Amino acid sequence: MVVAILPAAGKGERLGESLPKQFLDLKGIPLLVRTLLAFEKAPQIDGIIIATHPLYLEHTENLIKSFNLRKVLKIVEGGTTRQRSVYQAVKIAPLETEVFLVHDAVRPFVPESLIKRVIEATRSYGASVPAIPVRDTLNLVKDHLVKANVPRENLFHIQTPQGIKANLLKTCLDEAIARGLEFTDESSLLTYFGHPVYVVEGSWLNFKITFKEDLILAEKLIDCKIE
Ligand code: C5P
Repeated sequence: MVVAILPAAGKGERLGESLPKQFLDLKGIPLLVRTLLAFEKAPQIDGIIIATHPLYLEHTENLIKSFNLRKVLKIVEGGTTRQRSVYQAVKIAPLETEVFLVHDAVRPFVPESLIKRVIEATRSYGASVPAIPVRDTLNLVKDHLVKANVPRENLFHIQTPQGIKANLLKTCLDEAIARGLEFTDESSLLTYFGHPVYVVEGSWLNFKITFKEDLILAEKLIDCKIE
């Protein structure tokens, strides 16, 4: 069984809106629902667990009902960090879960081919993440002055969904929480504990909606039907 976990309990403050960004309207459909639909449509996904902010529990439940999202197994209260939100979801996942796919609720354009690639690599290697190469020049800048160039050959942007075998994710999260360690994603968590994470090709379309400009870009992409 493959279960997608959507941590969606962030406040999304960088966007400067009153509503958290995952609930903002994106051409008639809330951003969170657009992301959920990508997993709902992917035949490789058996179930979905959403971690949401306690204040938006009812709002999330209503969205799931009104958009008739049948794969959603549970909606849990998220934690104070992304890692804690993921942990809440992992704890209540069905025992038959073999693979977890953790996906940011604010990456609605994840292609199905990418979901498939991550699952296949996770089954073979235990853990897998999609990544795209850094394409700009990278410089170290201080006080408006370029201090040094950073070679970019081996630098990648890590995306989601991040695939991990269920027992491995549980063990690493238990250990991290017990030791008070905090990681921004599963690839960093696993790497810290010495587990290999296999990198597959990501997608430039699979960007994380963080700033206002991303929202404008997302609307244009929907207009172009490049979904
Ligand atoms: O803030 P950032 O964009 O890095 O968040 C990535 C994802 O983690 C978002 O989907 C956000 O809602 C989620 N998150 C969470 N619980 C938190 C903080 C972030 O589920 N406490």
